[in-house]
Amino acid sequence: MNNPILVAANLQKSFADLAVVKNVSLSLDEGEFVSLVGKSGSGKTTLLSLLSSLELPTSGTVSLCGKDIIKASESELALFRRANIGFIFQSFHLIPTLTAWENVAAPLFPEPMEQRIRRERAVKLLEEMQLGHRLEHLPSALSGGEKQRVAIARALINNPRIIFADEPTGNLDSQTGQSIMETLHKVNKEQKLTILMVTHDNELAGNADRTLTMQDGVIQ
Ligand SMILES: Nc1ncnc2c1ncn2[C@@H]1O[C@H](COP(=O)(O)OP(=O)(O)O)[C@@H](O)[C@H]1O
Ligand SMILES: [Mg+2]
Repeated sequence: MNNPILVAANLQKSFADLAVVKNVSLSLDEGEFVSLVGKSGSGKTTLLSLLSSLELPTSGTVSLCGKDIIKASESELALFRRANIGFIFQSFHLIPTLTAWENVAAPLFPEPMEQRIRRERAVKLLEEMQLGHRLEHLPSALSGGEKQRVAIARALINNPRIIFADEPTGNLDSQTGQSIMETLHKVNKEQKLTILMVTHDNELAGNADRTLTMQDGVIQ
């Protein structure tokens, strides 16, 4: 039995008069690893932000983890994202003044929790990312691949059901990118975590369960 975790229908997004996402309908099953490819400017980042509740569409519907994210209020969405969604970006988006473990633990700060517990959870994830020797490093002292593994650990710390990744290997050399992909495939398999990943690397895209291709705002 396949369980849809994300269902989008007739999504449109326009900026001023420019339609960037045009009548997109798609569905992802729980546990799927789906890649989204397409030329630069085809609307991939915009579509990802609509599907992941970061932006509102001009029209259309999105149900994510059983929630109608178009109707939800911004305060509901903040809680919902924290409980269900992990984000990974091309440029890592780490906080430069926090150490590796503090970056990973940052999403836990709204919860009332002992600092010791936060640290333990962050350290465990960093160890799984082979970064047990980099806990106290600032992002500026880490390589690109290390930064992205810190970002993956941060995305995982609240045990999300789905991860949205926008060109997670875009700033990495191909070998490092390959190892980041292996990490994402591992968490997808081991934790049955759904992943939607934008990439313009066709080879990396080909390793997914399914590939969606975007062209000029439309899913082919
Ligand atoms: N906030 C915005 N305001 C106006 N135009 C935007 C905005 N965001 C994206 N666009 C435009 O939408 C198109 C698609 O952008 P984007 O979704 O970033 O594509 P991709 O991720 O595939 O490169 C581009 O022409 C871009 O300039
Ligand atoms: Mg983009």
